[in-house]
This record gives sequence, structure tokens and C-alpha cells, in this order.
Amino acid sequence: MKALVLCGGAGTRLRPITHTSAKQLVPVANKPVLFYGLEAIAAAGVTRTGIIVGDTAPEIREAVGDGSRFGLDVSYLPQEAPLGLAHAVLIARGFLDDDDFVMYLGDNFIVGGISGVVDDFRRERPDARILLTHVPEPTAFGIAELDGTGRVVGLEEKPRHPKSDLALVGVYLFTPAVHEAVRAVRPSRRGELEITDALQWLLDQGYNVRASTISGYWKDTGNVTDMLEVNRSVLETLQPRTEGSVDEVSEIIGRVRIEAGAKVFASRVVGPALIGAGTVIADSYVGPFTSIAENCLVEESEIEYSIVLRQATVVGTRRIEVSLIGNSVEVTPAPRTPAVHRLVLGDHSKVQIPS
Ligand code: DAU
Repeated sequence: MKALVLCGGAGTRLRPITHTSAKQLVPVANKPVLFYGLEAIAAAGVTRTGIIVGDTAPEIREAVGDGSRFGLDVSYLPQEAPLGLAHAVLIARGFLDDDDFVMYLGDNFIVGGISGVVDDFRRERPDARILLTHVPEPTAFGIAELDGTGRVVGLEEKPRHPKSDLALVGVYLFTPAVHEAVRAVRPSRRGELEITDALQWLLDQGYNVRASTISGYWKDTGNVTDMLEVNRSVLETLQPRTEGSVDEVSEIIGRVRIEAGAKVFASRVVGPALIGAGTVIADSYVGPFTSIAENCLVEESEIEYSIVLRQATVVGTRRIEVSLIGNSVEVTPAPRTPAVHRLVLGDHSKVQIPS
């Protein structure tokens, strides 16, 4: 069995934060979302992995390399443009050969991994297997319609009038039957070759498409509330460890990981919390569900339930909560007079200021 991981697509800057143009590299608990997918593939016993790359190929290659640190053997498969998920399967034909494969969308996060569903597929070997989850906005996903016995009877990509709230999650298991399906589909309304249409084609031809429903799913949509929530759920499982240094007047409480070279002075850190390599926390409070990435400075400040990305500086602030602070951002106090806010905010920033 092989894996096909989709990391193509145009670089998008339409996010609240422009920390990276590859949405697959958005960090969850200081680790790119894609890495959780690659780890899940390795844990499911799959090694040969093809990664579909587009405009952001250099960033993805730099982050993943040859895949050996995940226990994977990675090949890169360039896609000339984001022409659809079924198009990605079309261009991967040579790599996939006639093997069964798991297709994994690089911006999806599946709590609990994929070993169970891969094992089910190996045992039962239907022509295709899909995962479904209940979602609040079904018009933004591929949607499945099931009959009374839970069998898939129809699939529709981003329907205007959804027949259910069961969305296709970005993990699909295929036998080589899918190759005929991806050759048969035509571009959709949005001009893409949809894998949802290829699955519908399999159903129409009488192939066996099985589904299972999962909970614990997240996809990067640029929504900060969802991102903080997935970050929180991963921090809940953090293994506490101190590789950096903590002075004797600091207090570390609960599940806290302090990575190599990080320094904590005269501060209180209450877990679950993650302090990235090389970061300095001084005279501060870091509260639960906070991830601070590498090489940041938090000084005379309080921060809780937040994500701070690389090389950011937070100095002399009162309590920051429910916030996402981008790479190399500086948050510093203004002089007392005049009482003004001085802001240099990047595109799509959102700021709430007490009035
Ligand atoms: O996340 C689940 C959803 O993913 C499913 O419910 C939908 O049925 C499915 O079509 C897909 O919808 P999206 O519109 O959200 O897919 P997106 O364009 O975001 O692409 C998903 C991943 O695949 C992302 O990592 C980029 C990559 N990709 C996308 C396209 C269109 C490629 O590698 N090549 C492509 O041509």
C-alpha cells in the first residue's frame, strides 16, 4: 500500500495571518499540521509516500525532506496547477502503479490518526473507503448522502442545497479502480476534477464505496477560533518535559514542555503549555492552552489560551487571551502620554482594543 499526500494548491495569503503561504504548514502545538498526517501514515504501516506539490513546493520540500525522519520514503510529484483532487490522482498514476493507496489531504487533521481505518480497508478491501464527519457548514465540503442502513448512495461537492451534514474528511482509501474513475470525470462548476465526482462515478458503476463516520476532525480554514481549539486539544496530550532551563524562582505547573535552549526566568507557567526552542520567558505568566513557538521573547506580560508564532516579541502587556500572534510580530507598551494605540498591522489582521 502507498500514500498520496496532497500539498498542492496555490499559495494563499487570504488568511488572518501570513506566517506561511503553504496552509499544510500551519502549526498546531508548534508542529506543522502536515506532520501529524505524515506521522499517522507511518503509524498505519505505510512507507512509500508521494507528495503532490504546487506553487509552495520549496517550502514543503524544505520542511519534509526525504521523509526519513517520519519513517517514510517520500517522492515529490509536481502538479502544474491546482486542477483538482482527482487531477492529483491522474498525475500520480505512474507513482501509484497498481497498488492500493491512502490519499491524505495535507491540510486536514484527524484526531487519533488513521491506523484503524487503514486496517479496516486492508481487511475488507472495498473498492474505496471514505471518512465522514458532521460539520456545521455543509456547503463548504463534499457531502455524502446515506440510506437507512448507512450505505453511501450519493456524493456531492460543495452542494448549494446539502442533503446531509456529513462531510467527506480528507482521507480516502482506494484500490486501482479509482484510476478509471478519475479519467471519466469532467471539470466541475469550479473548474476542478473533483474526487467527489470520481467517487460518485464508482457508485454509479456499481463499485463498493464504504464509509465510516469519525469525530475529532479539523481543517485549516484560517478560522482562529478553530485553530485555538485544535491547538488546545493537542496540548491536552502533551508529554511534559524540560529540555531548556528554568530558574529557581519560576514555577512550572502541570503539563508543560520547555524545549531545548528555552529559558524561563522569574515566571509562572501553567500547563498545558509549550515553550519553543530558544524562547525566553521572563517576569511573565504563561497560562493553560498556550503554544509559544521558537525564538520568541515574552517579558513582563501575561498570556493564556493563545498561539505565538516564531520570533515574536511580547513585552510589557497586560493579559493577552484567545489570540494568534504571527511570526516576528512585536507587541510592546506605548508611552503613557499621549494615551494612543500605535499599530502596524499586516493584511487581514484583527485587533480588539479596550475602548
Ligand atoms: O477537507 C475536506 C474537503 O477537501 C472535502 O470535504 C471536499 O470534498 C474536497 O473536495 C476537499 O475540499 P477543499 O475545497 O477544501 O479542498 P482544497 O482545495 O482545500 O484542497 C485540499 C488539499 O489538497 C490541500 O492540501 C491542497 C491540496 N490540493 C488541492 C487541489 C485542488 C492539491 O494538492 N491539488 C489540487 O489540485
